[in-house]
Amino acid sequence: MKNILAPSILSADFRTLGEQIKITEKAGAQYVHFDVMDGIFVPSISFGMPVLSSINGLTGQTLDVHLMVTEPARYVAEFAKCGADIITVHLEACKDLKKTLEEIHRCGVRAGISIRPGTPVKSLMPYLEDAEMFLIMSVEPGFGGQEFIPESLERIRTLRAALEKDGMEKDIEVDGGIYHSNVAEVLKAGANVIVSGSGVYKGDVFRNTAEFMEILKDYE
Ligand code: DX5
Ligand code: ZN
Repeated sequence: MKNILAPSILSADFRTLGEQIKITEKAGAQYVHFDVMDGIFVPSISFGMPVLSSINGLTGQTLDVHLMVTEPARYVAEFAKCGADIITVHLEACKDLKKTLEEIHRCGVRAGISIRPGTPVKSLMPYLEDAEMFLIMSVEPGFGGQEFIPESLERIRTLRAALEKDGMEKDIEVDGGIYHSNVAEVLKAGANVIVSGSGVYKGDVFRNTAEFMEILKDYE
């Protein structure tokens, strides 16, 4: 399966956001991970539509929008209009998850479902057919720079096994606390879309990205 790097711009230097995103593209990252926080579903507030619009068209990368927002169905159409290629919503944040996923698809966008570290993986099982991607949070959502929760590895393995059992080759994204030092374990557990904020944007962005890409290729 193709491995994908999704650098999270939450950790970028916003003075030169566009340039930094382009550096990640040059170094091989296929996605831009875009974290939207509403101050309710998670304690922090990040950025939203106007920032996504200005990134849209800047690079050829896939715009991977992670909505940490209560009742995200309210905003799906607008994020789609601003250029989202993938919209991931939290299972815990939706009153009617199936309807929300249908709304994402209606807008012509790929759908993802995310779960917090405390939500059982089995709660995803009724929805395996309904999304293209599943996002296992490996930190409590809300902030960059936290430590990877080791129990996440078992959760990734369980989900990959369930997908394989049903003959489904779908994307498993993992988000939070991933660096060069631990990304191999995450890939070996069965993830193929790797989010990294601090691991890419703190320090030399080109080198950090390129090093990630080498490891990702080794595990394809
Ligand atoms: C956390 C966000 C992450 C965050 C990851 O709630 O969803 O995407 O930016 O940052 P790092 O890689 O620094 O843990
Ligand atoms: Zn995220």
